[in-house]
Amino acid sequence: MQAYRASLLRFDPAGRPVYDEDGLLVVGPDADGRQRVQDAGACAAVAARHPQAPVTHWPGRIIAPGFVDMHIHYPQTDIIGAPADGLLPWLENYTFPAETRFGDKAHSAEIAEFFLDELMRNGVTTSLTFATSHPQSVDAFFEAAQRRRLRMLTGKVLQDRHSPDGVRDQAEQSLIDSEALIRKWHNVDRLGYAITPRFAPTSTDAQLRGAGELAAKYPDTWIHSHVAENKDEVRWARELFPHARSYLDVYAGFGLMRERAVYAHCIHFDDDDRRLMRETGTATAVSPTSNLFLGSGFFDFEGADRIGYEYGLASDVGGGTSFSPFTTMMAAYYAGREGQTKPGVSIPPSQLWWRHTAGAARALGLEGVIGNLQPGCEADFVVINPKATPLLARKTSLAANLEELLFAMIVLGDDRLIERTVIC
Ligand code: GUN
Ligand code: ZN
Repeated sequence: MQAYRASLLRFDPAGRPVYDEDGLLVVGPDADGRQRVQDAGACAAVAARHPQAPVTHWPGRIIAPGFVDMHIHYPQTDIIGAPADGLLPWLENYTFPAETRFGDKAHSAEIAEFFLDELMRNGVTTSLTFATSHPQSVDAFFEAAQRRRLRMLTGKVLQDRHSPDGVRDQAEQSLIDSEALIRKWHNVDRLGYAITPRFAPTSTDAQLRGAGELAAKYPDTWIHSHVAENKDEVRWARELFPHARSYLDVYAGFGLMRERAVYAHCIHFDDDDRRLMRETGTATAVSPTSNLFLGSGFFDFEGADRIGYEYGLASDVGGGTSFSPFTTMMAAYYAGREGQTKPGVSIPPSQLWWRHTAGAARALGLEGVIGNLQPGCEADFVVINPKATPLLARKTSLAANLEELLFAMIVLGDDRLIERTVIC
């Protein structure tokens, strides 16, 4: 048993923030040997219940749940900030050449280590990440995450057409490889496998059908892909799959929409698409820095809330421009405010934060496991120094309430706010 004393942020089941100015987090091993939250709340009350637990005191700091990045590409770490005239030229000119190198296990391992260092520095403790089409890229990532005892999700990318030599795979072998990787890694320690068709335009019907069959056979695996990000991409998908009602409906037709299915972007949707998301329990990974960088468009938060389906925040590095959850939350606020292409909304700071922690965990089917600091949750957390820079010190000390405090950190914050990241 170990107790940590500082200000303490967590969330109630309705997604509202719970904040103790002088809080105490008590952590201890469960039957499985994993460190979980045993108790949390106001320091005086919690300390009285655990008189034996040694206390580490971090005055002036805030303990908060580790961030959850719902969609990122570890193999795209080196192509952050690669300019292009939109998604499709960016894939062709930068992404596919960079991903070709992940046929080399040593290169995959080197980038996986750098990537995990960068996530930790930024306070991200779980991510759902693309690997590449090379099975070695999955092995390298899981090996690195396992050594660090992280809860991480990835899978081999499926792309058997409209892809250059070096990243293109072959339907039958790709499905054999995926199943072997599921058996090798899924639910091993804190690791989870995601069946990962890149997006419908780069898979044949046979590959998508096989992916759907795997998703049915292994119902607690994740499904991870992209949809409706860019207008040229949507046009292309509609040409390739003329019988589907919409681009999103292509995935439904192949059995690729269910709980634990996560689609990045979901920008160019109509209400029928939104209802399909809700009815199938499928979630969106909202990726605002990527959408701004590639000029893809703006996620319709009002539409998502009006229909009521699951979504959470994601960096989408390397289309996205930052590993920092603060930058992602800020960009989500900008994207919400945009009111020319869809209704503009002002997302409350605590909700932005929830969408990148407990809300993202719920969207991944991991509610009560990660993303929160309520009793029973795995104890992955960050220690924030709200006075990390002169301007942050000034602005956070002026905050009159929790929403103002959280917004000051979202607007002004970056990796300097994260003083330490603790893994359970
Ligand atoms: N659509 C298909 N592949 C990708 C990718 O790597 N990044 C993004 N942002 N969109 C995609
Ligand atoms: Zn992506």
